[in-house]
Amino acid sequence: MSTLKTTPYADILPLTAEADAEGRLSIGGCDLRELAERFGTPLYIYDEHSIRAACRAYRRAFEAELPSLRVLYAAKAWLSPALTQILVDEGLGMDVVSGGELYTALAGGMPAEQIGFHGNAKGIDELAQALDAGVGRIIIDNDDELDALERLTRERGATQTVMLRITPGVNARTHVKTTTGLKDSKFGFPLPSGQAAAAVERALAAPGLDLSGFHIHLGSPIYDLQPYRDGIAVAAGFAAEMQQRHGYRWREFSPGGGFAIGYTDDRLPPTHAAYAEAVGAALRAACEDHRLPLPEVHIEPGRSVVGRAGVALYSVVSRKEIPGTRSYVAVDGGMADNIRPAMYDSQYRALPAERIFADRDRTVTIAGKFCESGDVLVRDAALPDLQPGELIAMPAAGAYQLAMESNYNLALRPAVVMLRDGEARLVRRRQTFEDLLSHEVLDR
Ligand SMILES: Cc1ncc(COP(=O)(O)O)c(C=O)c1O
Repeated sequence: MSTLKTTPYADILPLTAEADAEGRLSIGGCDLRELAERFGTPLYIYDEHSIRAACRAYRRAFEAELPSLRVLYAAKAWLSPALTQILVDEGLGMDVVSGGELYTALAGGMPAEQIGFHGNAKGIDELAQALDAGVGRIIIDNDDELDALERLTRERGATQTVMLRITPGVNARTHVKTTTGLKDSKFGFPLPSGQAAAAVERALAAPGLDLSGFHIHLGSPIYDLQPYRDGIAVAAGFAAEMQQRHGYRWREFSPGGGFAIGYTDDRLPPTHAAYAEAVGAALRAACEDHRLPLPEVHIEPGRSVVGRAGVALYSVVSRKEIPGTRSYVAVDGGMADNIRPAMYDSQYRALPAERIFADRDRTVTIAGKFCESGDVLVRDAALPDLQPGELIAMPAAGAYQLAMESNYNLALRPAVVMLRDGEARLVRRRQTFEDLLSHEVLDR
């Protein structure tokens, strides 16, 4: 095996990626061609070592900056019971946003106390499910949710620890569809309008609610550090105002997630240490300025825990050369397993998995197989001349791809394997045609 360290792809592939002299890629000690033959394509592969390394990097970097820390994995990035077991093993908690995520987290062995329940439109059934499961925190988003929680805790004679999600009016300069910290957002209590302050008053007066602190999540992925500093300054100013007005002292604070990964080798994120230093320094300074206690900090990385660990593996199916216009290479997956290019104009690299060092002398557009002309995975990729049956690996595929997958065109959802030390463990089998009909009601 030769190292990939000298290639530009080393920073966007999983940590265990290697290539042999011919340029055949392996991950977690497993050859990609062998995996494709054993499990079929499209295939989603996850490198367990990269997931564990990300968990440890967050804990190490943020614990060096802050005396009290929880790392809650944002399950929306990708969730499965197999992943949950790894996260529990690494000492992470979880942020969930639906009854389904809560159910899956618990099924995977995540202790309820380590779970934070988010969402801008949690149903009464979901709130009841969260209370009955005993989740550690519910992050309240709006006044109707406050009403519902007051009622549900009263009915149960219970007390629930809650945080308030506030929108600080900070622009994280992410894609407009993933920016959440501005006043005009469907998430959280707006701060400048006084709605956040009114929510604090209500939460403090509710006998069944124990307000532990505040939450801001600014968007995703955030490649700059400044939005975190700005968000923290606003949140701490608000906490100080609440301390003055009500004698309320915050115990917990979350800057959310949003930490970035590299999708292409020309845009790489800050290090874990840089994010941690930005958050830690901003919070310590703000607490000192406002004479606030330093709260326990909850960070919620999702993308950056699983994103780089995952690779999508496709087979080339067909090619179309339109003279003077464009060369298409169509693969056996696309927008049903990766909606991100169509939804967010996300950029990816496509790599020839069996000859990674080959000359990339063609400019081709990698199209998916779905019946939408917008189903394009990579526009104008530099690749060698690809033949049907060849394998294409797309790095940085671990987050917000499977999590947003669909059965569009009634495509079967791909298998998922977890790789470690040369072993490939199937953690989700490929769907079957029978699965497609399994919840249909046939009325004959
Ligand atoms: C409240 C909250 N926390 C954490 C995250 C995770 O973001 P990321 O996956 O970018 O770390 C999100 C993502 O949208 C979120 O809404």
